[in-house]
Amino acid sequence: METIQPPKSLSKGIKIRNRLLLGPGPSNVSDRVAHATAFSSGISHIDPQFHEIFEDVKDGLRYVFQTKNETTFCITASGHAAMEATVANILESGDTLATGINGLWGQRMAAMASRIGCKVATVQSKSLSEPIEFEAYEKLIRDHRPKLLYVCHGDSSTGVLQSLDGLGKVCSDVGTILMVDAVASLLSAPVEMDKLGIDILFTASQKCLSAHAGVACISLSERAMDSIRNRKTKPSSLYLDIIGISNSWGCNGCPHHYHSTPAIAVIVGLREALAIVVERGLDSVVREHQEVSRVIQNGLEKLGLEMFVANSHHRLPSVLSVKIPKGVDANAFRRHLLTKYDIEVAGGLGPSAGTVWRIGVMGHNATHANAKKLLDAMKDALHVTKSNL
Ligand code: GLV
Repeated sequence: METIQPPKSLSKGIKIRNRLLLGPGPSNVSDRVAHATAFSSGISHIDPQFHEIFEDVKDGLRYVFQTKNETTFCITASGHAAMEATVANILESGDTLATGINGLWGQRMAAMASRIGCKVATVQSKSLSEPIEFEAYEKLIRDHRPKLLYVCHGDSSTGVLQSLDGLGKVCSDVGTILMVDAVASLLSAPVEMDKLGIDILFTASQKCLSAHAGVACISLSERAMDSIRNRKTKPSSLYLDIIGISNSWGCNGCPHHYHSTPAIAVIVGLREALAIVVERGLDSVVREHQEVSRVIQNGLEKLGLEMFVANSHHRLPSVLSVKIPKGVDANAFRRHLLTKYDIEVAGGLGPSAGTVWRIGVMGHNATHANAKKLLDAMKDALHVTKSNL
């Protein structure tokens, strides 16, 4: 058999052109987070110093989630892992998952649950650019009495912000576990887990927290944990076993121990990112995201662009979806921003593909200076790519 030769590409040094990441995540990490990550090569997850880092991260997450939940921890994988872990640990074949389908994330959750033989009950919003009404969710819950309701708080595929008011009460009335996806929304809109009666809340490191990609952060209420403890069958995934991972993080009264090796550097960076939020204060971080988002929305309108989500109260502050105007080459527009200005914005995703650009207002990047840089660059890109057609 022919020997595989060493690839020539790897004998050259790596060259990365840094961009200003103004898409729906990842956002750029601050120098503080980058340094913390870089200095983590001399520590392992079994070191008592790392156990303190686990505890700091858990405390930081309890603060940003506004919860007292004991079972609050991270899974080192993308935000999807929190969804997949919830499906594998809460649901068993034959159980019902209920979900709104008004963007990519409800579709993904439905697909995950149906892969393990669950029934899926769904509700849709009147249009892709609107949230689902409370009454529609209430009917879904009361009609199907699902084991789990998945609600996407901020849908990054459409830029819609979903109100969570009242859902906790309806879910607890019928014994449904309420799971909220705050991957894109956390820190750009308030999500107070305990006050809202949310049983499972999750986010990801690379969005408004501005840490490196690769960590799903999750918290579970005692009700959610009891449902896992009382299941008839073992969760299908060992790697994503919530009791196993949370115990290894020192939750539930367990000493820290080995479950699998976490992404050490990324968790050290996440600790620093949480420390920055703690220093600045949760309310001011949320307020600053909203202020910069508002400046960008006003600027986009001045450029003659139309927001995909017409009602400004329904807009997710951290991901602004903008309709691609007629007569503009959408891909050339994004290419121009990238090559001339080193600014990345995203195209649509899932059901919004081909119809919108998505602009991220996230974490370290949510500044007035970046808003100006983006709007100036977009003005030029619109000018150039209109005449290109
Ligand atoms: C990923 O989360 C995306 O919205 O692109």
